Amino acid sequence: YVVDKGNHRHFMEKEIYEQPEVISHALSHYVDFAENTISTNAAAIDFKAASGLAISACGTAYLAGLVGKYWFERYARLPVEIDVASEFRYREMPLSPSQAALFISQSGETADTLASLRYCRENGLKIGAVVNVRESTIARESDAIFPIMAGPEIGVASTKAFTCQLAVLASLAIGAGKARGTVSADEERALVRHLAEMPRIMSRVLNLIQPQMESLSRELSKCKDVLYLGRGTSFPLAMEGALKLKEISYIHAEGYAAGELKHGPIALIDENMPVIVIAPFDRFFEKTVSNMQEVAARGGRIIFITDEAGAAASKLPTMATIILPVVDEIIAPMIFSLPIQLLAYHTAVFMGTDVDQPRNLAKSVTVE
Ligand code: G6P
Repeated sequence: YVVDKGNHRHFMEKEIYEQPEVISHALSHYVDFAENTISTNAAAIDFKAASGLAISACGTAYLAGLVGKYWFERYARLPVEIDVASEFRYREMPLSPSQAALFISQSGETADTLASLRYCRENGLKIGAVVNVRESTIARESDAIFPIMAGPEIGVASTKAFTCQLAVLASLAIGAGKARGTVSADEERALVRHLAEMPRIMSRVLNLIQPQMESLSRELSKCKDVLYLGRGTSFPLAMEGALKLKEISYIHAEGYAAGELKHGPIALIDENMPVIVIAPFDRFFEKTVSNMQEVAARGGRIIFITDEAGAAASKLPTMATIILPVVDEIIAPMIFSLPIQLLAYHTAVFMGTDVDQPRNLAKSVTVE
């Protein structure tokens, strides 16, 4: 496998643009496109009998897990306990062998994630590994390996691994729902059809938004702080957006649940701190827009990442509105990841930081 940047300036950019292709690989591993069904080969993990699911990971992989929690709870009615691995491993939380556990790690070598895995093993849980590197320690110590098929990821800031982790978690959650009888055969087919559309929509969106992301990043690069807001699965996405931006542009950023705005961050709103609101036109939309209103009323500058339906439904003044196509809720987190990644990327390029090797960060953290 030859790893080079191709026509791209940085590995991160290359990896962002690779997403339609690698997501397609990931899906083909979990989806039977002829039948429009999920085929996860997850025999080692009995989602049907599981009383709950414990998920742990670090960094971006943890945020993928947080999105996964929404899916497993919604589609499979499976309660999910999730924590960052550095807390999970020491919390001494009571676990039961009737629960299943999932560990998400691009490298499969993160020390805290591995320690959390071993804690679950000691407690008798069956273990699944959502990994990119199949020969890794975390994969080796698991009962079932769920590869994300992203190919080598060189950029320290994770992009394609994140969306592939999401694609795999979505597939697993639908599969678990099918096994548990909470997703009907019709629902499964409909959801799988949406997953199948994803690579094509991703390509379209990447082309569509690129120029806007580049010009917007000029504005962002002048800021000292940026706040990201979202509800539902857009909440972990808000945190991922903030993480990406701070990792590579060194601009301070925070991701918040939109509903928590009034419990703290609203005190920071002024004309100097852009607020990036992530809001597809889903069942949370109206609530998020009312939070956006609170930002607008205090003179905050809003960057509104929404879809065509959302843009039509909100009349609030914004600094910029990024309009994506309307997509099904199951694929929205992957599609909405794209503007977030490109915004961070172009801001960092604009500021002249070392995008692929940001200061103080490591691709894989194998010490505690
Ligand atoms: C480091 C990387 C992140 C990554 C995290 C977890 O902090 O810089 O990009 O999300 O580790 O790594 P893993 O390999 O376990 O996914």
